[in-house]
Amino acid sequence: MHCLADYLLLSLLCLTGVIASPVRPRTPETNGPVATAWYAGYHAIDYPIENIPWDKYTSVTYAFGLPSKNASVINLAPLDTLLLPQFVEAAHKNNVKAKLSLGGWTGSLWYSTNVATADNRTAFTNAIVALAEQYQLDGIDFDWEYPGKVGVGCNAVSPNDTANFLLFLQELRQAVGQDFLLTAAVATIPFSDSEGNPSADVSGFAEVLSYIAIMNYDIFGPFTLTFGPNAPLKDSCASAAAQKQGSATSAVSAWTTAGFPTKQIVLGVPAYGHSVTVPPSAAYCNGTHELVPYALFNASVHAPGDKWDNPTAVDVCGVQQNFGGTFDFWALVEDGWLTSDGKPAEGIDYTYDSCSQTPFIYNSTTQLMISYDDAQSFAAKGQFIKENELLGFSMWEMGGDYNDILLNSIRSAIGF
Ligand SMILES: *[C@@H]1O[C@H](CO)[C@@H](O)[C@H](O)[C@H]1NC(C)=O
Ligand SMILES: *[C@@H]1O[C@H](CO)[C@@H](O)[C@H](O)[C@H]1NC(C)=O
Ligand SMILES: *[C@@H]1O[C@H](CO)[C@@H](O)[C@H](O)[C@H]1NC(C)=O
Ligand SMILES: *[C@@H]1O[C@H](CO)[C@@H](O)[C@H](O)[C@H]1NC(C)=O
Ligand SMILES: *[C@@H]1O[C@H](CO)[C@@H](O)[C@H](O)[C@H]1NC(C)=O
Ligand SMILES: *[C@@H]1O[C@H](CO)[C@@H](O)[C@H](O)[C@H]1NC(C)=O
Repeated sequence: MHCLADYLLLSLLCLTGVIASPVRPRTPETNGPVATAWYAGYHAIDYPIENIPWDKYTSVTYAFGLPSKNASVINLAPLDTLLLPQFVEAAHKNNVKAKLSLGGWTGSLWYSTNVATADNRTAFTNAIVALAEQYQLDGIDFDWEYPGKVGVGCNAVSPNDTANFLLFLQELRQAVGQDFLLTAAVATIPFSDSEGNPSADVSGFAEVLSYIAIMNYDIFGPFTLTFGPNAPLKDSCASAAAQKQGSATSAVSAWTTAGFPTKQIVLGVPAYGHSVTVPPSAAYCNGTHELVPYALFNASVHAPGDKWDNPTAVDVCGVQQNFGGTFDFWALVEDGWLTSDGKPAEGIDYTYDSCSQTPFIYNSTTQLMISYDDAQSFAAKGQFIKENELLGFSMWEMGGDYNDILLNSIRSAIGF
């Protein structure tokens, strides 16, 4: 029996079985393969906890807990304080590990200051230990976007972020013991060093993290110069340097070259795609119905995506944002782009880019082009995970799938 309690007396009582452990006995998930996904509590009305196909996951991660300006305080939205216990209980009933993710794109404002000093690291560690006990968690996922970098725009940032993050994780690992899952959602290049370059050596992180999930998505979208694959598997075959902005292949290579072992890497995979507006003159190859994967799009149009798309609103930094144009896989089916078996509907132009292993769809009336993932591209990603002996996959987000089409495809390609 493993006790998370950091004071001796309680630990002794736990060890001797005098009182029940504040945390459940654990076995690590890290023997693999890992099948996991993030569950967005803020979509619980459309995708309730009851919908989770527990037998298809080894762990699940609730998004998000929010680190605050005070390192001792991690905030949960009122709804999350109700849902998280239900989520953890259901996971445990099904023998699935339950983690809580901290941060995210808008929730990474205070990571930098929370790990900046020895006192703050200890306060942050204690806050996490208390949270893990309170909610009976099997692990914590760190979604810091990003150490040493500006993400959303107003996050605290320091050249010492990556070094401080490691010191903090070392302290936290000490506090929680070996079997507690500590994971991180990371960019396609290693954490920034003090000069702002990808760190040459991240092997220290592999000693304290159970595994990382490489967020190989949002590589191209309305925020890039041209359109392109949301989540390319490969980019070495793309024709121009500008088309090589990151891929599963290059990301795994970058992390392993910096000393992070393949067997501790899971591939982050998206159950959503991005859309842009492309005039027909730029959408097709030479008057055929073949779609151009790296099309020039009309950046002055900001068409909405599906119901879950970010609305036009002022963000956490006080900046007005346009629609993101994001479509979840379920919405592509419900909106008629795809049939219920996830194949392109009649009248929709469709091209599968074999270099990046990415499907594209286009409606010439609305001029909307979407780069997304389907069963075929998820199977290719699963094959890649298997061939390169990665630890597994992590999908953003669980509720984005339709009838488990994506989940079933990647699981079967990996050999679950
Ligand atoms: C930070 O939060 C802790 C716990 O709630 C509290 O005791 C402390 O006073 C807070 N510190 C500041 C600077 O607000
Ligand atoms: C440490 O945390 C406190 C609040 O908990 C914050 O006010 C302070 O700025 C942090 N220290 C650094 C160096 O960021
Ligand atoms: C970074 O760490 C170094 C060495 O500990 C320290 O001297 C420096 O002040 C820190 N820089 C910032 C911006 O916190
Ligand atoms: C389009 O035309 C160019 C130049 O004639 C040719 O190089 C290219 O292969 C053609 N592309 C397709 C998809 O037919
Ligand atoms: C881009 O969209 C704007 C707004 O709808 C339109 O006025 C403009 O003509 C479009 N540009 C192209 C090249 O289609
Ligand atoms: C393309 O969009 C138009 C306008 O929304 C819609 O009426 C049409 O059905 C769509 N085409 C297909 C093939 O779905």
